[in-house]
Amino acid sequence: MYRIAVLPGDGIGPEVIEEGLKVLKAVEEKYGLRFDIKKYPFGGEAIDKYGEPYPEETRNGCLSSDAVLLGAVGGPKWDGLEGDKRPEAGLLALRKSLGVYANLRPAVLYPSLKEVSPLKNELLENGLDILVVRELIGGIYFGPKGTEALEYGFRAYDTEVYETQEIERIAVIAFEAALRRRKKITSVDKANVLESSRLWRKTVEEVAKRYPEVELNHMYVDNCAMQLVKNPFQFDVILTNNMFGDILSDEAAQIVGSIGILPSASLRGDRVGLYEPIHGSAPDIAGKKIANPLATILSVAMMLQYSFGEEEAAQDIRKAVERALEEGFRTADLGKGIVLSTEEMGDKVVEYIKGVIF
Ligand code: IPM
Ligand code: MN
Repeated sequence: MYRIAVLPGDGIGPEVIEEGLKVLKAVEEKYGLRFDIKKYPFGGEAIDKYGEPYPEETRNGCLSSDAVLLGAVGGPKWDGLEGDKRPEAGLLALRKSLGVYANLRPAVLYPSLKEVSPLKNELLENGLDILVVRELIGGIYFGPKGTEALEYGFRAYDTEVYETQEIERIAVIAFEAALRRRKKITSVDKANVLESSRLWRKTVEEVAKRYPEVELNHMYVDNCAMQLVKNPFQFDVILTNNMFGDILSDEAAQIVGSIGILPSASLRGDRVGLYEPIHGSAPDIAGKKIANPLATILSVAMMLQYSFGEEEAAQDIRKAVERALEEGFRTADLGKGIVLSTEEMGDKVVEYIKGVIF
């Protein structure tokens, strides 16, 4: 029996989570698995109920489960709150409390979505498969920060801090992942300016000595942002810090068509993991039944793979998603085709998993 804490959160979070859970139920039946699923309040929803984004009940539930499945947090309703009271602060606290330092964000181009990519189609003939490995519980997101009053206005600061051990462990995850892929790592930093990036680079080079079969190169983040649209095929694994990883993974998502299809897994080197779509709460489309549930559904696949070792079920979900796209089924963000609602897309994937349609 696998224990899963589910945090639907805000905006389109609850809508896409519903579809993720449907898919989970389908594989539960098909593969004779047992999931113990409990939902907890999180983000803005929890602020409204309990005055804090990551209340104790939720924390206890997450810490005592094998995996956490999260929708999204945040929205205009809570934008006026102070930094540490916002829904996003709850998300950072969740990641920190679970200790999930390694965020894996695979950006894979589905052949049937080539026309949706903003890149020239002839460039995409050979597909595109990039894995962003983002450090998730350090760096400027967690360093010393504050706002101080000055004689004129204020001084506000955030600090990028990394220690050797934090860089080492995320680098190991990236190298291990590279071994199972095309064996190439691009470590992205700003070592021409930042002290923390120079430690990053040095440490990654040390770790690389243990992996002679993996090719390592370094790239400045500004150049990487450009190279991703100029020649994304040069990338296999992109290893980077928390903030650069946040930015570059959105860019990678767009070049494979839509941020609506990118899942993520946040891991700490054992079974426990946090799984979430990378798209966020999209308050502008919440409640309209047009959100793309595929990123969440693919996050469920990552959960089955990484937390539960259920490779076959994970693969089954991925195949079903690919099939739905190949058959021309789309949500609104994916452009032309047979446009489905959030719920209909979830149902479609379930039908393929169950083998109702061949
Ligand atoms: C993401 C999101 C979060 C982040 C926000 C919501 C705090 O943008 O997961 O990419 O910056 O990590
Ligand atoms: Mn982001």
